[in-house]
Amino acid sequence: MDLRIAGSEQLQQRSWRAWWQMRRSRYDRRASCDPTERLRRVETPRPVTIAVVGTGSRGRTFSSFAERYPDRARVVAVADPRTDRREALADQLGVAADRRFDGWRELASQAKLADAVIVTTPDREHVGPACRFAELGYHVLLEKPIAPTRAECIQVIDAVEKAEVILAVCHVMRYTAYTDTVKDIVAKGRLGQLVGIEHLEPIGWWHFAHSYVRGNWRRSDQAGPSILTKCCHDLDWLRYIVNRPAVAVSSWGGLHHFTPASRPAGAADRCLDCAVEPDCPYSALRLYLGCLGDPELERWPLSVLTTDLTESGVRRALRDGQYGRCVYACDNDVADHQVVTIEFEGGVTATLTMSAFTPYGRRRTRIMGTRGFLEGDGQHLTLTDFVTGEVESFDVVDGGAGAGGGHDGGDFGVMSAFLDAVSSGDRSLIRTGPRESLESHLMAFAAERSRLTGVPVTVWD
Ligand SMILES: NC(=O)c1ccc[n+]([C@@H]2O[C@H](COP(=O)([O-])OP(=O)(O)OC[C@H]3O[C@@H](n4cnc5c(N)ncnc54)[C@H](O)[C@@H]3O)[C@@H](O)[C@H]2O)c1
Repeated sequence: MDLRIAGSEQLQQRSWRAWWQMRRSRYDRRASCDPTERLRRVETPRPVTIAVVGTGSRGRTFSSFAERYPDRARVVAVADPRTDRREALADQLGVAADRRFDGWRELASQAKLADAVIVTTPDREHVGPACRFAELGYHVLLEKPIAPTRAECIQVIDAVEKAEVILAVCHVMRYTAYTDTVKDIVAKGRLGQLVGIEHLEPIGWWHFAHSYVRGNWRRSDQAGPSILTKCCHDLDWLRYIVNRPAVAVSSWGGLHHFTPASRPAGAADRCLDCAVEPDCPYSALRLYLGCLGDPELERWPLSVLTTDLTESGVRRALRDGQYGRCVYACDNDVADHQVVTIEFEGGVTATLTMSAFTPYGRRRTRIMGTRGFLEGDGQHLTLTDFVTGEVESFDVVDGGAGAGGGHDGGDFGVMSAFLDAVSSGDRSLIRTGPRESLESHLMAFAAERSRLTGVPVTVWD
């Protein structure tokens, strides 16, 4: 082995790890508060029975809710073509042998066998199961995006409305204590009249390389544009805070960097063979070998590459798999930097910046009103009152992965609301109904059209 490269590799792995630890220690200092208790609205007479379709990362997350709260939810069926994942989850949850299916179609060929279905298949496999299970009378918890195209999103919403079943799209950001605090400040009129919002989704340089250059969300024709797959959450969140429909959007941006034109001289097609890898910010060796030994990083992003969490296992995945490829020699086409300007009813405006070229972190927002200004980073908020000049700080206490699932409690929050709605039949407990969920997706498609055509686009056209 080339010792010069090995030495540099170790150094860089250390700096990557140090960065992660620093980020995590901030995270760990937060107190925890379980969103299942914070958000719970009804007493469940019996556990809601659930079929889990797609037993990957998200399917396991929602299943862990049922494990933790057996009085509220019980997983009675699982479907996934990947035998290892399906059987592991089914064994863990005690699902009967005749209720384990090779895929959603096999499950859907049976008579209805649960109250609800959780659809956590890949993006392009949402429309089929969502429509079919709705037709069969299942209530549906559906991962975002609803579907990769505008027409398919409308098809799903039409199907659930026709079947009159409950639909919750996993817009998890609506269900965090941080969002509750922002909503509360706005609703109490502490900002006066809302005039504008500036919002940043800092995807993070290595996260973008992992998911949107080498990974499953790299191609528009397979998963949809990045403004949909990454930012339908942000568009939905802005809609929720403004509390008015969006009218029109305009957008600029594109794939600036992760193309063959940016490839440095001497770069190889795989990081393992690359002479300039030590100086590359997107080195797969630094990213993935640096995850080894850290349970959180091994769970994500490392387990996406391989189940063999050893150095030789990771090197094998980097040699053979998609995640070892040079970021300048992939088949990606989604935008790495995009700005969207939105006009809401009544003239309120918002700008959203989505960028790969940031540290990985929580969203940042500035909200401008006629009587006050609110600035937040996903955990802390400062409110400037224009009458008194005083600045008030809010440290939002929320559940982390331990207390309430991931996404700052949003994962368990949406699940809790969905179960409450199914148990009580009260759809208003879900914070975004089918049409409102559709709206955020239409905003994303309109933004993409505007980016590609250079003209503003009306959201509902
Ligand atoms: N709400 C959020 O914040 C959030 C976060 C991450 C991912 N997601 C979305 O969740 C979905 C799942 O993501 P993931 O990270 O769990 O992916 P994943 O690849 O880990 O899991 C998807 C699973 O679906 C299975 N599958 C494929 N075809 C199937 C079929 N016909 N029937 C049944 N199962 C099938 C796959 O084998 C895989 O196990 C995606 O749509 C993704 O965009 C949402």
